[in-house]
Amino acid sequence: MSEATAPQTGQPGATPSGAAGDPPNDVGLTIASLRAEQVLDSRGWPTVSVALTLDDGSVHEASAPAGASTGAFEAVESRDEGEEFSGRGVLKAVAGIEGEIAARLTDRRWDGIRALDDALRDLDGTPNLARLGANAVVAVSMAASRAFAHVSGVALYEWIAAQTGAQPLMPVPHFNVLNGGAHAANDLDFQEFMIAPLGLVSEEQAVRAGSEIYHALQSAVRDEFHTAGLGDEGGFAPPIANPVQALDLLVAAIEAAGYTTDQVKIALDPAANGFSLGDGNYQVGGRRLDRRELVDYYDGLLGDYPIWSIEDGFAEDDFEGWQLMFDRVGSSTQLVGDDLYVTDAARIREGAEKHYSNAALIKVNQIGTVSQTFDAIAAARENDMACMVSHRSGETIDAFIADLVVGTGVGQIKSGAPARGERVAKYNRLMSIERRQPQLQYGLH
Ligand code: PGA
Ligand code: ZN
Repeated sequence: MSEATAPQTGQPGATPSGAAGDPPNDVGLTIASLRAEQVLDSRGWPTVSVALTLDDGSVHEASAPAGASTGAFEAVESRDEGEEFSGRGVLKAVAGIEGEIAARLTDRRWDGIRALDDALRDLDGTPNLARLGANAVVAVSMAASRAFAHVSGVALYEWIAAQTGAQPLMPVPHFNVLNGGAHAANDLDFQEFMIAPLGLVSEEQAVRAGSEIYHALQSAVRDEFHTAGLGDEGGFAPPIANPVQALDLLVAAIEAAGYTTDQVKIALDPAANGFSLGDGNYQVGGRRLDRRELVDYYDGLLGDYPIWSIEDGFAEDDFEGWQLMFDRVGSSTQLVGDDLYVTDAARIREGAEKHYSNAALIKVNQIGTVSQTFDAIAAARENDMACMVSHRSGETIDAFIADLVVGTGVGQIKSGAPARGERVAKYNRLMSIERRQPQLQYGLH
């Protein structure tokens, strides 16, 4: 988004400062001014947008996404709680950026993103960014990352690769094509039904498959339910309640579009906090299941459908459920912790030690800063856990996470359906990087 005023930077193919694999080459910067605005996100609720101007006159922008099914341990957004926008205004966050945060960050030299992020965290003074707001802090941290890429003379994903020491990789996109849970008005308990083109060979092919399957699904949903209404992430939200019905629709759509279930697999995010009754009990498809029965239920689905990954299959506090599931299927199925870990390095390490899962979801605004997001990814990698970079259900056209996933080389992203501007902004950015850097490999590793 900084490209408007600095067309050479932040773009794939910008001249790198050194060959791939060079050690991080931090170049310092000075911020001349920081402006913020209240804008709308994809759900029509206010969010924070930042424009950071450097002393060379270049402007670097970013905006904060917002979740709906948030984890209890996430960094906390600042919301005005006033009459406007049902209390969801962000004018206090905006004022904090233009006041306190600008006073702390401007007119001094910053040698790297970590020092700047640490200064933001110190200034906030709370463990979960509750005072200035994670929505304020994350937008500033992302804009500052773009500014560092600019002064380094490289594209954002290349700067991220240098920061993390990773080999850039084109990720397998996970398209959320059927929506339920907190993201839709139907009675479907599971939140996300995704298609993942694991068996294709490029981002472009993967996006094409996503689009073709999405449209095959659209025809089926129109014919059967006489609606093509959407959930928050752009997937269809037909009036179904049973996850099995959703999975049948997905398999039929994959095949109707001419793909096999070897080429295109299914990933689920049940988001079990949403149907947890507490104490390890759950309500699924009108039935009450205890944690052992829920493990059996998932195991049955894994036997019947080409599901390769399950995220938040258990509630964020049902550690026993996570362990039972890991013991049963963890050697053959990716099990992803989202609300369980909230992109927190310490929680991820604990999860690895206690065998809760073999993968972590990565959302920058869950932890609040870009450097701590790098820490979360490093913690997962040190413990042989996979990572999936993720959007939020409330988004803007900011495509930061596309560069994040390529630059960290983690090989997986979810950004909703292959439709709606705020979702396709990320997939389009990925294809744009691939077109300019055709030597980059596509895949999980
Ligand atoms: P959220 O949902 O952005 O509404 O929190 C996304 C997810 O649970 O993965
Ligand atoms: Zn999730």
